[in-house]
Amino acid sequence: MAGRTLRQVIPSVATSDGAGVSLRRSIGASQQLRHDPFLMLDEFYSDDPQDYIAGFPSHPHRGFETVTYMLDGRMRHEDSVGNRGDLGPGDVQWMSAARGIIHSEMPQQAEGRMRGFQLWINLPAKEKMKPAGYRDIPAREIPGAILDHGGEARVIAGTLVQETGRTDGPIQGLSTAPLYLDVHLPAGGAFAAPITAGHNAFLYLYEGDAGVGEERLSLTRRTAGLLSDGDSLRVQAGESGARFLLLAGKPLREPVVQYGPFVMNTRAEIEQAVADYQSGRLAIA
Ligand code: CO
Repeated sequence: MAGRTLRQVIPSVATSDGAGVSLRRSIGASQQLRHDPFLMLDEFYSDDPQDYIAGFPSHPHRGFETVTYMLDGRMRHEDSVGNRGDLGPGDVQWMSAARGIIHSEMPQQAEGRMRGFQLWINLPAKEKMKPAGYRDIPAREIPGAILDHGGEARVIAGTLVQETGRTDGPIQGLSTAPLYLDVHLPAGGAFAAPITAGHNAFLYLYEGDAGVGEERLSLTRRTAGLLSDGDSLRVQAGESGARFLLLAGKPLREPVVQYGPFVMNTRAEIEQAVADYQSGRLAIA
């Protein structure tokens, strides 16, 4: 099978969420811009506390997973199940809202840089009403693989396979089999690795510039690039290097009905989620 290439570019758009946090949304900026099983990707990046200080006060989720990856700054998570976690630079929080969770994510700083990503991954119908799960993954538990052609990749989920060996991330064995890498390439460096054929994949370039696939189609900063199918990927960094997230996952091919923080398969299930939330039954196991 062939190497993957860039087939659609999704520029991020400025938006706001929570109690007024400025962020940039690419995947999921509209309902046509999902990439099954990926529902949404937000990048938050600011040195101005006015852009983040309001945080994300208590709010519900049902039917999918949220993955928060911090690059700079500190956030505290608290939820209705009793989990509590402090996220710092390089840490990841993998939360499976499933049947329901009510949580808050609040900045633990009044100044300085806040930078990171939140990704939403869908759950299959048969897992949407399972009990909620939560995992804090400190930076030290996320392995960094030295890349064969220069640079480094942090392996958050799935396995990076290179000619020189394999690197297993801490998140394994989910139904959507996600691969989640944070790749740093020096100027002129290249990334090359297999990606499971048939899985949907995309890049989000957050620094520098890059050429994707053998054709080296250009991807610019703060832009998501959806990839064609194929069994491998090659990315060439430009003159200023490149930093990007690489995501791949098994598509669910199920109907998606979304109402804000609830993502189910049917309208009736959404109405049930709203009713459960209003009557205080959303997050009861
Ligand atoms: Co949330």
